[in-house]
Amino acid sequence: MGAEMRIISWIRVAILGVICLSPWLCLANAEGQVHQNPKKLSCNRYEGSWVRDESYPLYDSSKCPRIDKEFDCLKYGRPDHEYLKYRWQPRSCDLPRFDGKSFLTKFKGKKIMFIGDSVSRNQWQSLICMIHSSVPNLRILEQGVEPITNYTFQGYDVSVIVFHSTHLVDIVNGTKNGRILKLDSIQNGEIWKEMDVLVFNTWLWWYRTGPKQPWDYIQIGNKIIKDMDRMEAFKIALTTWAKWVDTKVDTQKTKVLFQGISPQHYHGADWNEPQVTNCAKETVPINGSTYSAGLPRPSYVLQDVLKTLTKPVKFLDITTLSQLRKDGHPSSHNAFRAMDCTHWCVAGSIDTWNELLYTELM
Ligand SMILES: *[C@@H]1O[C@H](CO)[C@@H](O)[C@H](O)[C@H]1NC(C)=O
Ligand SMILES: *[C@@H]1O[C@H](CO)[C@@H](O)[C@H](O)[C@H]1NC(C)=O
Ligand SMILES: *[C@@H]1O[C@H](CO)[C@@H](O)[C@H](O)[C@H]1NC(C)=O
Repeated sequence: MGAEMRIISWIRVAILGVICLSPWLCLANAEGQVHQNPKKLSCNRYEGSWVRDESYPLYDSSKCPRIDKEFDCLKYGRPDHEYLKYRWQPRSCDLPRFDGKSFLTKFKGKKIMFIGDSVSRNQWQSLICMIHSSVPNLRILEQGVEPITNYTFQGYDVSVIVFHSTHLVDIVNGTKNGRILKLDSIQNGEIWKEMDVLVFNTWLWWYRTGPKQPWDYIQIGNKIIKDMDRMEAFKIALTTWAKWVDTKVDTQKTKVLFQGISPQHYHGADWNEPQVTNCAKETVPINGSTYSAGLPRPSYVLQDVLKTLTKPVKFLDITTLSQLRKDGHPSSHNAFRAMDCTHWCVAGSIDTWNELLYTELM
């Protein structure tokens, strides 16, 4: 190599070095070639802010094939419509616009299952609305018995399914011991692992006590106990779930996602309005990217468990962006007139979860 060549080569390396100081801007292979890789371009799509966008909402909720009476805010008289007019804007990239036809084409013949509590059902209904609005004339076949609701978009043969499970791990009827929450057992996994996409969620039920607690005892191995620290129980169950994924799920065939903790808005102190005790008067999102209360505790437990997985599992990290949407809940605009700052209006901010799911899957 002549001196001139050496210098040129050296300069090339130096330039690459500079460019690659920001690792998300380039990936240099052994030969020093630079690949622009838009997929790897490290845009954290979950960091950003809500911006007003007149083209939203993505669909007319009165035309959805189905919205449960818990989530159909406009039908039950929500007077303000401003909450429908926001789009999630990641800080350093744009989300692709949801396209139901591309989604159905990509997942032709496939089965997508949401597994979890009513928040999973909430997200499932939003996705059904989003797909339906792209292909309004397509017939939907409705099937399934508790705990499964199965909507199949005919023609494409795409099934979008929700499997109701409050804790992911099993609750079984003991012989004389009442209902037992078995922290180390996932029998329903036999059904789940046959799907092509799985979107998990659990949290809402872990702290319930009294008549709302759907179990009487907890079992771990051979040990049966009356109760325990709930956060610890949550962690054990998530760990059981993670081991199940690592040992039983063929992630070449089945894509696995876990949804972040869905936040609630009952404590105005969390968003600097200490006198507020629910979401009834909230009509606009919180400005900016940060939520003053920070992440809820279970988010840290969930993230710790997800780190232990050896198989690829995507984290649908919707917690912070949803914390900013104190205006996204039904409040009393549901069939029961009961204050609900836990679930989300359909249409509404939960549609963004599916825009993000779409981005992860396409
Ligand atoms: C959902 O319905 C489709 C179409 O009938 C069927 O092929 C599929 O097995 C069903 N899936 C579940 C989990 O029930
Ligand atoms: C447990 O018992 C209840 C009440 O008898 C029944 O409704 C439920 O289906 C049973 N569950 C299982 C898993 O056997
Ligand atoms: C939100 O923040 C932006 C930029 O700081 C500002 O221009 C806008 O007025 C704020 N909106 C509200 C409703 O506070």
